[in-house]
Amino acid sequence: MASMQKRTIAEPYRIKVVEPLRMTTREYREERIREAGYNTFLLRSEDVYIDLLTDSGTSAMSDNQWAGMMLGDEAYAGSRNFYHLEAAVQEIYGFRYVVPTHQGRAAEHITSQLRIKRGQYVPMNMYFTTTREHVERAGGIFYDCIIDEAHDPQNPHPFKGNVDLAKLDHLVQEKGRDQIAYLSIAPCVNMAGGQPFSMANLREVAAWADRHGIPIIFDATRAVENAYFIQQREPGYEGKPVREILREMMSYGEGCTMSSKKDNLVNIGGFIATNNEQFFTRAKEMVVVFEGLHTYGGLAGRDMEAIARGIYEMVDDLYIASRVRQVEYLGGRLREGGVPIVEPVGGHAVFVDAKRFLPHVPQEEFPAQALAAALYVDSGVRGMERGIVSAGRDPATGEHRRPNLELVRLTVPRRVYTNLHMDVVAESCAALYADRESIRGLKMVYEPPELRFFQARFEPIVP
Ligand code: F0G
Repeated sequence: MASMQKRTIAEPYRIKVVEPLRMTTREYREERIREAGYNTFLLRSEDVYIDLLTDSGTSAMSDNQWAGMMLGDEAYAGSRNFYHLEAAVQEIYGFRYVVPTHQGRAAEHITSQLRIKRGQYVPMNMYFTTTREHVERAGGIFYDCIIDEAHDPQNPHPFKGNVDLAKLDHLVQEKGRDQIAYLSIAPCVNMAGGQPFSMANLREVAAWADRHGIPIIFDATRAVENAYFIQQREPGYEGKPVREILREMMSYGEGCTMSSKKDNLVNIGGFIATNNEQFFTRAKEMVVVFEGLHTYGGLAGRDMEAIARGIYEMVDDLYIASRVRQVEYLGGRLREGGVPIVEPVGGHAVFVDAKRFLPHVPQEEFPAQALAAALYVDSGVRGMERGIVSAGRDPATGEHRRPNLELVRLTVPRRVYTNLHMDVVAESCAALYADRESIRGLKMVYEPPELRFFQARFEPIVP
């Protein structure tokens, strides 16, 4: 891999505004995590020291984006900022039509409702929580078509986000082409550990989809990070600007749903983008019911301006290199500390392998949930569970889905923390690993019916 002997790439920006962090005592944190039902989603942000819960909506905006916020045109209809957003999406992603939404799951909701007929399958390269939820709400059936390597946290495959074409063939043979609504393809697959697909694989998938007349709709949430990995790892793409790689990637799809809270470097927002005029018309009709007029979709004008500017900033090669390399840096420090992590390190987060970290805690005692809680108590660092709790229950059987991956996600916000913060996180994880026998499992005492991981509550199992 060319990325092995790399010179340092520093952040291509300097820090102009700072936000103080609050340190707390261990006793204080023990109390807070108990109150929060051992669920890091239920902690108050003020009680967190380094917040690696998510990279969603947690980016630091640039001075240029903040300046754009002052130019918000808050007209109900036809805001100038909408046209800026539309132009940015057309230029950088290459899709013709744009419908803003308040965030990614709203785009997923509208797309799922309009594109899925009850009983149809939606193949995805691994599930994502909200995406699958909206597929199921629309009567669709999730079908996992990611390569097997993605389910193995130690497999070093450089493109674990790849689609397994044999799995797609199998689905068509079993169910028939008409039973497939569309292919939902995610760059830098979140639940697999932020793992990219290769352009070669995408090209094959696109050819397959074309042969069967099945559209590809991307979940483009972390597409720029995927483009960076292609630039670093795939023959033929060395030295190619991520901007061009992204454009090529998107050219294989009919459109996308997008959570702007990630790649686009803003705190709120999302959109549907498509080349399908008929779908665009239907999406505009529906966005009015659920989000707002089709020229604001639940966003303020200033929010759309910040997204438009973020879209141009995200394809700066130095920016995206420094962003992904910071995640790699955290991974390297954890590896040095002996902490078991998902390999290779992904684009937005390092995923700690709770199965190997806590082999004495069985999966039904929620090892990743317990580890995330223990990390908070140790150092005030907040991560999140990505294992059996996040996977939820099978709607058909009501049983827990038992994912092979039982992980704690340490998600790195964009342009927010320094590498010294990453050192603090790694030291805390290493200290916990040395003392891992003392971490015990949990029992679930409250379970919401949908997306349970956000609000579920737990108690320690007392032996
Ligand atoms: N798709 C992916 C791959 C995501 O990671 C997310 C959100 C969404 C869609 C939904 O977007 O939050 O704007 O409604 N992921 C966040 C996370 C919540 O922490 O990974 P949203």
